[in-house]
Amino acid sequence: MSTKHYEFSKRVKGINASPIRKFASHSEKAKKEGKTVIPLNIGQPDVVTPKEYLSAIAAIDSSVIAYTSSNGINEAIDAFRDYFKTLGMPFESEDILITTGGSEALTFAISTLCDDGDEILVFEPYYANYNTLAKISGAKIVAVTTVPENNFALPSYEVIKEKITDRTKAILVTNPNNPTGSVLDRSEIELIVKLALENDLFIIADEVYREFIYADKGYISFTEYPECLENLVVVDSVSKRFSGCGIRIGCVASKNDEFIAEVLKLCQSRLCAPYVEQIGTAAMFKVDHSYIDEAIKSYRDRRDLCIKLMQNIEGTVCQIPDGAFYFILGLPVEDAEDFTGWMLGEFDVDGETIMLCPAKDFYATPGKGLNEVRISYCIAEDRLIKAANILEKGLKEYRKVKGLE
Ligand SMILES: Cc1ncc(COP(=O)(O)O)c(C=O)c1O
Repeated sequence: MSTKHYEFSKRVKGINASPIRKFASHSEKAKKEGKTVIPLNIGQPDVVTPKEYLSAIAAIDSSVIAYTSSNGINEAIDAFRDYFKTLGMPFESEDILITTGGSEALTFAISTLCDDGDEILVFEPYYANYNTLAKISGAKIVAVTTVPENNFALPSYEVIKEKITDRTKAILVTNPNNPTGSVLDRSEIELIVKLALENDLFIIADEVYREFIYADKGYISFTEYPECLENLVVVDSVSKRFSGCGIRIGCVASKNDEFIAEVLKLCQSRLCAPYVEQIGTAAMFKVDHSYIDEAIKSYRDRRDLCIKLMQNIEGTVCQIPDGAFYFILGLPVEDAEDFTGWMLGEFDVDGETIMLCPAKDFYATPGKGLNEVRISYCIAEDRLIKAANILEKGLKEYRKVKGLE
């Protein structure tokens, strides 16, 4: 270890560790001590990635893996375009730029829309990486609170309007939502469209969980409202749809050609998205629809099981989520971070424990979410049953040890 003192940028030093990975070292320690750790913290599905992906890569016949177009290769762009068309979304190939995951699409969108100090409206609790993505672009997240008592539905026009200032550039909506699992209904979509148009704001629609909706209301696209097409940016990804989180391919799509031209400059700065993964992605989009139908069914079954198990644990509070594969769980503890660390460090049932994701960092408002965790239920049902049993026993023991009874 060097004895010199290095001064790193305030911009990066001001970034917090991801709450999803915050307890990784505790988990590693528990594993080294011989414990099995069941992950309820991370959105890494166990559904098998379509075999079309690897077959297409195996069939690549190039002696040099060269740079490709900064926009993305035609096969990948057209695959996203055709997929969007099946949903009635009017994006043409020139409206789409391939990115290295939805994460890069978000970074590019925010950087393109915001100068230092400009604001992005987000509904809390929200996907915590937005904080980092906004910070590296110099943008500021302004949070509008949603509450579990109302199943994390959007608040009224007046409440949202109050948060809009002359620095607000966009409303970032996650639909279906991570971490709450909520899905926007038509009145909420129309509310966002109205606010965006009245205040000249962009809508950044992060729809990486688009397929995973279990409620009757189904998916409603902002593109159904032609009046907002110019203000609309859609962020997409193959990570969740095809259970391909390690593929790192996504896209940004917009009918606003000036916006796309600006984003392209950022795409050019990183030369191109990975070629091999784009070839695999293009083939993967051809997978039979039954692949997605089965994934949706398995997540719905897991949701139903997981909610039933969690609701049976004394003192917990949760609502039935409509989509994605997460929900917020209120725990009968004061500090969910302390409980998460304690479960990994001090507790196990027959050598097994669980890793939770404290929800505090999904909120921007200090003091919110202190006793909440985000549960990710994209793991097998037998593991969910074990995890709920460990959680129930752990809560009893923790409350005793901490004098909370
Ligand atoms: C809401 C949301 N947006 C974006 C992403 C990033 O996805 P990608 O893997 O495509 O970068 C995630 C990943 O978990 C997410 O939950």
